Amino acid sequence: MKKEESESLERLRELKKIVRRHDESYYRLSNPSISDQAYDLLKKELDALEQEIDPLGLLDQESDREESDTPIHVGDDRLDSFQSHKHRAPMLSLDNTYDKEEFFEFDQRLRKIFDCATLPYVVEPKIDGVAISLTYIDGKLSLATTRGNGVEGDIVTQNLYHIENLPTDLSSFHPPPLIEIRGEIFMSHQEFCRINEERERLELSLYANPRNLAAGTVKLLDPKESKKRKLEIVLYGLGACEPNTYFSKQSSFHQALKNWGAPIVEFLKSVSNADEAWESILELDQLRHQYAYPTDGAVIKLDSLEMQARAGATSKAPRWAIAYKFESERQETLLEDIIFQVGRTGTITPVACLQPVQLAGTIVSRASLHNADEIARKDIRIGDHVMVEKAGEIIPQVIEVIFEKRKTDSTPFNFPNHCPACGAQLIRVDGEAAWRCPSLECTNQIMARLEYFASRGCMDIENLGESVIKQLVDKKIVSKISDLYQLTMEQLLSLEGFAEKSARNLLEALEISKKQDLWRLLSGLGIKHVGSAAAKDLARNFYSLEKISSSSLEELIAIDGIGDIMAQSIFSFFNSEVSRSEIEKLVEFGLQTEVSLSNQALFLQDKTFVLTGSLVRYTRDEASAKIEACGGKVSSSVSKKTSYLLAGPGAGSKLAKAESLGIEILSEEQFEKLLDSKGR
Ligand code: IVH
Repeated sequence: MKKEESESLERLRELKKIVRRHDESYYRLSNPSISDQAYDLLKKELDALEQEIDPLGLLDQESDREESDTPIHVGDDRLDSFQSHKHRAPMLSLDNTYDKEEFFEFDQRLRKIFDCATLPYVVEPKIDGVAISLTYIDGKLSLATTRGNGVEGDIVTQNLYHIENLPTDLSSFHPPPLIEIRGEIFMSHQEFCRINEERERLELSLYANPRNLAAGTVKLLDPKESKKRKLEIVLYGLGACEPNTYFSKQSSFHQALKNWGAPIVEFLKSVSNADEAWESILELDQLRHQYAYPTDGAVIKLDSLEMQARAGATSKAPRWAIAYKFESERQETLLEDIIFQVGRTGTITPVACLQPVQLAGTIVSRASLHNADEIARKDIRIGDHVMVEKAGEIIPQVIEVIFEKRKTDSTPFNFPNHCPACGAQLIRVDGEAAWRCPSLECTNQIMARLEYFASRGCMDIENLGESVIKQLVDKKIVSKISDLYQLTMEQLLSLEGFAEKSARNLLEALEISKKQDLWRLLSGLGIKHVGSAAAKDLARNFYSLEKISSSSLEELIAIDGIGDIMAQSIFSFFNSEVSRSEIEKLVEFGLQTEVSLSNQALFLQDKTFVLTGSLVRYTRDEASAKIEACGGKVSSSVSKKTSYLLAGPGAGSKLAKAESLGIEILSEEQFEKLLDSKGR
């Protein structure tokens, strides 16, 4: 064997060992010891070398024999096929009712069993999320499983580790040695809107409601992906508990959860009879819209755990609890018209213009009709009476047509063949539901692109709103981004509503925007599939627009967070003549196209961090490296000089000391935001 060959073989063996070790800590111990990016690099090197000198995988057998009795093969991602786990106590579902009488019958049945006049209950919100069971052994979270079929669920611990309010270590409170705590994973209305707004900007289809999105996120195969969507958890139920004499009431179990600092429901009423329970149900219906989580009812449970056990369960649901479901608010209204929005990439979105109607706290006059197929499927016609509902209590939707009220002369709705804005013939890309306007000259697309560029999530240019952009485009003063930076005082004064002061303000705002962070510019360029998260990934990895625009497809794919489709889109964008000349102009006009080292990279200069608790998003080394890369210092003890305490779950004395000194305490999420705010 030649010298180079034996060296390569040596390196291959070494790499296998290293990657195996990282796989072990990542997949089995949930505690990665290097960054994902560093791991991906090693893995790439390994794959390439393997292809070159061991395409048949002969070495695999050799190292399996050598090293381990339960080998993890490289790329053995156990989460791909979620492992299942048998719940120690089954996860039952609940009997539902929408009917007041049926609720009182439930109470009557129980009073008969126990032969008593009144029974004490607790009333809780019914959270519309994803049921989860957390197993704690000696206070440490050992497993998180979905409900599955009630007997066996999927192990999804990896995907839940990023949940900020997930209690991972309760040991300091000395809970029962073995306890299954039941709860619900949910996505807040706010996060749901954030994700949908981002998707709307990227012209992707919108998620229907927070529940489905939360469920999809819990079951994502890639924990890195699930980390990008903020999930939260709330706990309300007791599964198996050893010893099982630990708690006597549902209300005292809640109290214990509260004492342990675990996230519990905001509404928990202990009542002494069914009438009081009913009062609480009505009260909850008034309050629930303020909660961060979506709710669809109240759960009424017998308070005494001993009585719960005596009442028992049918094969599906317990006899000691019932869900009273609130009617989701629906309203009838008239569909007055269907108009069309033309997005910045030409997507045509039909929008229903409704006779204004009050719905779950707001007045609704518009609803998305999604696309042509949706209109045809529901046979929606102008002039119809329709039912509208807020999906996930947020986005108004037309649920169905009230056909009995349809006028005899009504005609089916014909989706236009031509762009309602510029008249170009619409096209439909294979596999996509949307019709698109293909014209680059389409004024609506131009306006949408400019509005997007100026929006708060991108360049955040004050005073450059929809109406100004419309005038600029209509008057043919501006047709592309770079034109904005050539605007003159004279041109602005020719616009309606502009005086010297407002014109000067806009010119100033444009000047200020030139110094915006690189990721904002990248995001604003409107590259297909690239939102703010990907723009930050690009800025953080390449530091300059020049480097990004000259990078190869392989270099782009190598970036954590950039997949094949996105990389292809970035690559094509920067290799098109039109974008190249546009970028040249932006550089010429003095826009910031680099991550500036002085105010970006070293923005933590003079700041001292202390790390405490068990960090779940990073290893300590990784967090320290990030701080140091930004000019900050990491110290091991808290003092008056400490600027920030980065605290993970289970933080103890350092947290208490930092609190007493009034030092700013950051969760891992807040820490990430701090870094993100600088595009790091
Ligand atoms: S108690 C055996 N309490 O509703 C008792 N469940 O339709 C069952 N849920 O699978 C659980 N909020 O995912 C309980 N406060 C609450 C709840 C709740 C939501 C879910 C849970 C369950 C489903 C049954």
